[in-house]
Amino acid sequence: MQNKINDIQKNFHIDINNVVTQQDLEFVRIKYLGRQGVLTDLMSTLKDISADEKRIFGPLCNQLKIEFQNLHLEKIAKLEQEEALLLAKKSALFDVSINKPNQLHGSLHPYTLITQEIEDIFISMGFAVADGPELETDFHNFGALNIPSDHPARAESDTFWLPDLKRLLRTHTSTVQVRTMKNNTPPIAIICPGRALRNEATDASHDFMFMQIEGLYIDKNVSVANLLAVIKEFLDKLFGKSLKLRVRPGFFPFVEPGLEVDAECPFCKTGCSTCKGTRWIELMGSGLVHPNVLKECGIDPTIYSGFAFGPGLTRLAMLKYHITDIRLLHSGKIEFLKQF
Ligand code: FA5
Repeated sequence: MQNKINDIQKNFHIDINNVVTQQDLEFVRIKYLGRQGVLTDLMSTLKDISADEKRIFGPLCNQLKIEFQNLHLEKIAKLEQEEALLLAKKSALFDVSINKPNQLHGSLHPYTLITQEIEDIFISMGFAVADGPELETDFHNFGALNIPSDHPARAESDTFWLPDLKRLLRTHTSTVQVRTMKNNTPPIAIICPGRALRNEATDASHDFMFMQIEGLYIDKNVSVANLLAVIKEFLDKLFGKSLKLRVRPGFFPFVEPGLEVDAECPFCKTGCSTCKGTRWIELMGSGLVHPNVLKECGIDPTIYSGFAFGPGLTRLAMLKYHITDIRLLHSGKIEFLKQF
């Protein structure tokens, strides 16, 4: 029995000295102190020995158990101490000033880039940047813009209508003209970049969601010459060169006269795929604000006049960055976005 106790003690010491991790220690605990471990086994042999031997070996076995339990506790404390030291060492090695280049750079979306550029151009001309809701009333989207409920112009842009809210997703940013005129007195000079939504089939140049930029200027004696001067200054700055404009009649119920403005193609001299060989690029609808709209918004048309224009900001972004399909702008594809 004595030899057996000695062997167990010797093996336990070897095993516990070899422990490196908490997991190793748990194996040793189970092996010696577990319910089916070496010590339980040893205790169970006591019943097979004589009463005299029991008096000697019983206390020895108990002492062995206490010794093992104490060494086990000591080892736990030692491992915890070692772990804390290692952590302290690791954090001491952490250099907050190290400059490790990040491989994953984010970038601004082309809409953000062009919006910032356009805002800067108009701010330099004295315009303010206005905003308006995308969820709109029929009045702001149509009624106040001289498009009564029976007007055929309503059919031109198929609307997302939310019957429970009696609201629609605005089909153009011209809604912001109405809100601005109703809440301000002239002179007014604003632009409003923002989202517009139409229930339209999607192709390379149309999506159900796109961006527009509305411009509005109201003062005394405003003329088409003022409108064209502002548009030209804007386009020249945006495309970085002096461009010729071509003006055609265009119908929008909220302007009179209504004009379509085309610009000379900024990308070629003799015709290219962007201008489809014509040297002209259709850019925006515009015109002088219709007297009915001024009246509806509380501005006296006998004193004031003004101009409005509304290019597709999506179209300007596609032109400026040579993007061939509108769906790329809305795809969220990293391969596309990381070029900007
Ligand atoms: C308008 O929306 C007028 N509110 C513009 C305006 C403002 C005219 C002020 C006069 C005075 P239009 O429906 O043509 O007009 O749209 C303007 C521009 O938005 C278009 O030239 C085009 O560039 C862009 N656009 C229209 N529908 C889509 C679409 N589904 N996807 C992408 N861009 C579109």
